[in-house]
Amino acid sequence: MDHFNYHKGWLAAEDVSIKTLAEEIGTPFYCYSTATLVRHYRVFAEGFKEIPTQICYALKANSNIAVIKTLANEGAGADCVSEGEVMRALKAGVDPKKIVFSGVGKSRGEMAFALKKKIGQFNVESREELKMLSEVAASLSVTANIAIRVNPDVDAHTNDKITTGRKTDKFGIGWEEVKETYADAKRYGSLNVVGVSTHIGSQITDLAPFEAAFKRVVGLVEELRTEGYAIKRLDLGGGLGIPYHHTKIPPSPADYARLITTLVKPLQVELIVEPGRVLCGNAGILVSRVILVKRTPHRTFAVIDAGMNDLIRPTLYSAHHDIVPVEEVLNKKVFEKMDVVGPVCETGDVFARDRELPQLKEGDLIAFRSAGAYGAVMAGTYNTRLLVPEVMVNGEKHAVIRARESYKQLLAHDKVPGWLS
Ligand SMILES: Cc1ncc(COP(=O)(O)O)c(C=O)c1O
Repeated sequence: MDHFNYHKGWLAAEDVSIKTLAEEIGTPFYCYSTATLVRHYRVFAEGFKEIPTQICYALKANSNIAVIKTLANEGAGADCVSEGEVMRALKAGVDPKKIVFSGVGKSRGEMAFALKKKIGQFNVESREELKMLSEVAASLSVTANIAIRVNPDVDAHTNDKITTGRKTDKFGIGWEEVKETYADAKRYGSLNVVGVSTHIGSQITDLAPFEAAFKRVVGLVEELRTEGYAIKRLDLGGGLGIPYHHTKIPPSPADYARLITTLVKPLQVELIVEPGRVLCGNAGILVSRVILVKRTPHRTFAVIDAGMNDLIRPTLYSAHHDIVPVEEVLNKKVFEKMDVVGPVCETGDVFARDRELPQLKEGDLIAFRSAGAYGAVMAGTYNTRLLVPEVMVNGEKHAVIRARESYKQLLAHDKVPGWLS
């Protein structure tokens, strides 16, 4: 459920008209609903009330500081994968103890930064990283709390590019090396081994791979404890999918939480989960205006002012987003099949093929649903297009939470060397 509904013939985000926002801000822009974000967080958290759980929101899904702060105010910590994300989490007021630092390639500089900020946990993804982290922590005379991220060799059956838990994926420590890695961790100085972590992928629409992976990991916690390791935390990552399309409905957060609770409760560990998409995906839309409708003998193209640089998921993952007109479709409207494409000079700049939509014309507004996760964060300036702005709505209020950069600002990043002037 989200809070993007039609009101008096026009799409609204909570109590704010999208048409009015488009006139004020210009298009394209992302629009987030506070009520939806909060609702999703609460529904998700409700499922875990039987076990001590820290929800560490995966910032990579949407790292706008206003979004992070909205979730942090609900109690969320942060799962970060770069120094920049740690900075964002701190700026949003996330308690450093609730910050987890994941990622396969943390540099020594990033480790030092996070150690100085006293973050709660590093999820270590290789034996090489373990050694580096121990050295960096020793050089700062501090101790790093670590969980070893294990790769359970389970295929999450999601898009190949966002599957992370197969043994051939770059993430985590291979099952056959896990014990040696824990032994390394015990030997190295300046490390405090607190847990086990895993994450098998994103947009997962079936509980079976979660179950397979979590069972392996729960077994590992038991074994490690028998071998004398004081494993007090278990971090099960994120990955629960959202319904982008009516044909593929993922398990509910309640079902997902029930599975985890059943498996994890007997361990009496502190649980960490790292949801991203499920919290913010349906809390955002991307609004765009039709530049023109190009009719050829072969196809009809609705060319819109958003491009793959603003929302890359369809190009990168062949992802589906529902597209709706901002003006409510009334009975007599004529529908037609069309390709919805952006203005970027790439054949792949296509949002939808053969999509049946109400007939569109120059100036019409459309919205991409479920664009709150992996949308704005993946935007760029390819083709020298301005970075897309973001707006947040809260009831009747709205605020621009990232302004559209001007061309002056964009071009000012480039510097012409002296020898060319
Ligand atoms: C380590 C880690 N945790 C959490 C997430 C969040 O995943 P999702 O947005 O699918 O919940 C990701 C994303 O792939 C991740 O890599």
